[in-house]
Amino acid sequence: MSTLTFPDDFLWGASTSSYQIEGALEVDGRGPCVWDTFTRQGKIQDHTTAATACDHYHRWPEDVGLMKAAGFNAYRFSIAWPRVVPNGTGPINPKGLDFYDRLVDGVLAAGIRPMACLYHWDLPQPLEDEGGWQGRAVIEPFADYARAVAARLADRVKDWMMLNEPNVVAIFGYGVGEHAPGHHLGEEGILRALHHQNLAQGAALRALAAERSDLTLGTVINLQPCRAEDDKPENIAAAQRWDAVWNRVPLDGLMRGQIPPLLAEAMKSFVLPGDEAKIRYPIDLLGINYYSRMTMKYEAGRPFNVFWGDAHCDRWTFMGWPVQPDGLYDLLMEFKRDYGNPAVYIAENGAAYDDQVAPDGAVHDADRVTFLREHIGAVGRAMADGCNVKGYLCWSLLDNFEWAFGLAKRFGIVRVDYETLKRTPKDSYHFIAEVIRNKAVTL
Ligand code: FCB
Repeated sequence: MSTLTFPDDFLWGASTSSYQIEGALEVDGRGPCVWDTFTRQGKIQDHTTAATACDHYHRWPEDVGLMKAAGFNAYRFSIAWPRVVPNGTGPINPKGLDFYDRLVDGVLAAGIRPMACLYHWDLPQPLEDEGGWQGRAVIEPFADYARAVAARLADRVKDWMMLNEPNVVAIFGYGVGEHAPGHHLGEEGILRALHHQNLAQGAALRALAAERSDLTLGTVINLQPCRAEDDKPENIAAAQRWDAVWNRVPLDGLMRGQIPPLLAEAMKSFVLPGDEAKIRYPIDLLGINYYSRMTMKYEAGRPFNVFWGDAHCDRWTFMGWPVQPDGLYDLLMEFKRDYGNPAVYIAENGAAYDDQVAPDGAVHDADRVTFLREHIGAVGRAMADGCNVKGYLCWSLLDNFEWAFGLAKRFGIVRVDYETLKRTPKDSYHFIAEVIRNKAVTL
């Protein structure tokens, strides 16, 4: 057994996103977003909707109370663009901002640092109707929205994340149609969506920096180490291509102002002179989401001729994702080596399991406890080896609407009964609370 300790000022908490937990989709002047449309088109596997989800919009005081009781000192949530700017552009909806105003005050009163993310996938539908992330029409509206939110909240919220996982939006939303807005635009659609999110992010970062000088500005990218399934040259090349698309377009754009050389030719028809400089920004804090490594192999006919191969793993979550805590250690060490060790925090990490409620009413989610223990341990090991990690926020506080999977996949450390909306802290919640109390994890 070994024990890894964490510094006193380490950030501990959870992440959530507006669409996945809030419900109240037609309340207080919220406008429609792409996920409302996608859900109505029957694209959600279990045919559920996010109409109520966790009803966090009304039950947030209870949820903040759960975080406080667990000892959290940080909470990353997202702001719903369609609540604040119902048409995507034009008038601000004060009632939408009122909700976040109340939430932020409640979070601060609980002694928790609010970390706001401006875009966790709920693009206002009117902007999608103008081409969404395929074009540039969305860039200025995003910066305007960022300014409007900051004008209301930045006196109290100091940590601002621009985007969540632009690669997932681009690949699943515009490339292969598995997420909203459901397009099948292939390689070019993916790269366009990535590039325009990068540009919007750069514009919003500059907009916020111009408003106030006391903010910690950043974004959230999910980095997954891409490995070839075996040493066949075509599989090694496939892993390099996927690494360029998945990791490097978002990361090198932001950190280096660089389009990956492997993709320069494919992107040249829509990258304009000066774009790289607009995308690059010296952020203060990078949020990294980590779930697993990716194992790639060549397969013709798929975007970039890449297929997710056999992960050579003997443990899997209920999503069918491999359990690979060493991948998190490797990723942090590689990031330190390649990007000069800037400040990062783990903005999401967690697992869905097929939780059951025991006869005593508790949820003994032993697999999730093991998952969290090993991943927090990987973070601790990376820190012991010099990585500049400032915090660990699990995904997620609550079971929630897991996008195209609907309510069927439960990621929470707190169970939500979707009939009664009752919250039940799982064993994993008590585990995290104990780690926070001890400032240490034992492996
Ligand atoms: C991430 C998303 C988050 C959640 C987890 C499981 O890709 O950012 O909203 O769906 O996966």
